[in-house]
Parts: sequence; structure tokens; C-alpha cells
Amino acid sequence: MQVHNFEKVWLGAALLLIVGFIATIAYGTVGVGIQMVDDSGGEIDPQAVQQSNTGTGFDDPGVVRQNDSHYVVYVVAQQFQFAPGTGDNPIRVPADTRVTFRVTSADVVHGFSIVETNINTMVIPGQVSEVTAEFDEPGTYGLVCHEYCGSGHHTMGGSVEVVPKSEYEHNSTEVQN
Ligand code: CUA
Repeated sequence: MQVHNFEKVWLGAALLLIVGFIATIAYGTVGVGIQMVDDSGGEIDPQAVQQSNTGTGFDDPGVVRQNDSHYVVYVVAQQFQFAPGTGDNPIRVPADTRVTFRVTSADVVHGFSIVETNINTMVIPGQVSEVTAEFDEPGTYGLVCHEYCGSGHHTMGGSVEVVPKSEYEHNSTEVQN
């Protein structure tokens, strides 16, 4: 059988495309560290989120130091703010350190998305959304609610301040809360 040269070129090009597509899918799946949010965060009674002394971490939300290389941030989302996160109460975490965000809602469904990162989850009342990440670049990152949650949805946001690790540890006593 004789295959025309012109046809060979197109066969080659089509094959290359297929290999290329598979490569991009493989890279997107494992190469960029994207994980789906699962139910590992557990459940919580939305009515009890802000009750004091529940020991859930949400009764006094904020950054909790586990050790030098791991911090946990408890965040309560509520119409129309993140605590901490919104206004003059940004979430402050160190760079190059594992940070686990544990986010829950005290009322309706919200979103928790940190701009320019792949941290992005729904925040569902009754559920704790758990996302772990590491910030390579110090700086201020925007925090937005990306699920419609009521009349003030468009105003619901905040910021995450990522501080160089050395500076953070230096001030860590005043940061732990
Ligand atoms: Cu909270 Cu939209």
C-alpha cells in the first residue's frame, strides 16, 4: 500500500496532537498539584459555629501554629465577611510553609477563593472545607466569595498577607491567636 506523502504529514500531525492533548491532561492532573476538596474537613453544626468554648477552632477563628512548618487557619464565612480575612483583619500566614485552611459558614453557602492561587472551595453550612497549600511568593492576595450569598455578595472579600517565613517567625507571638 502506498501512502501519499501529504497524507503522512497529516497523519503525523494528528498523532502529535493526540499525544499533546494527553500530555496536557496528565500535566493538569498530577503536575500542578491540583486537588479536589473532599469531606476530610468533617461536619459542624452551623448554629454552633460561633458559640464559645466548643473547641472546634471556629469559636475563636484565626491562625493556629501547629509547628514551624505547619499552620492551620480557622475561618468563619458569614453574610458578608470572612473572619478573619475581611477589612482590617487580614489572614496573615508565612510563606514557604504548609498552611491548612479550615473554612465553614455560619449561615448560607459562600465561596472561599484566594486570587492568583488554586485555593478555591465552596463553603457550605454544616460542613468544614479543608484546603492545604503553600505560598511560594510573599505578598498580599485577594480573598473573594465566589458563591452568590445574598444582597451583599459582591462586597464580600478580604485579603491574605503572606509574610516571608523569617519575618513571620520573628513576630509569631503576636500572630498566634
Ligand atoms: Cu458570601 Cu457571596
